[in-house]
Amino acid sequence: MKKILVIHGPNLNLLGLREPNVYGNTNLNEINKNLEKMAKEFGVEIKIVQSNHEGEIVDTIHHTLNWADCIIINPGAYTHTSIAIRDAISSVNIPTIEVHLSNIYKREDFRQKSFIAPVAVGQISGFGEHSYYLALEAAVKLLK
Ligand code: DQA
Repeated sequence: MKKILVIHGPNLNLLGLREPNVYGNTNLNEINKNLEKMAKEFGVEIKIVQSNHEGEIVDTIHHTLNWADCIIINPGAYTHTSIAIRDAISSVNIPTIEVHLSNIYKREDFRQKSFIAPVAVGQISGFGEHSYYLALEAAVKLLK
């Protein structure tokens, strides 16, 4: 069975509460439940983690080296700042899909640069919680 690691970055634990006009009303627990249900239907194994800490996300990426066939990551604000997360992704060489709930290219200038995009297979941005579901679908297609 193919294995997919989903990483939610900083502040995403507050989904539902946090700027619902930008990020929607669905909380992280509900998104995770939907992802787990979809994974079951697709016949893939899924592991989901959330962290507010850059180094912890780097560690998580390293530790998945012998586990994940694909990574789905919403790096949150680290998207726009973290060379360390980018380097972790390129170091493990596991195909990675970058996800954003909001369309980062329609927002402030500082959000329009992603350090992650050049090391990702692709990016899904702007579909709210559905960005995650589309990413899971993309991961399954990628692993076939
Ligand atoms: C985000 C976009 C980032 O700019 C922001 O810092 C987030 C969430 C998104 O999912 O739209 O925390 O990654």
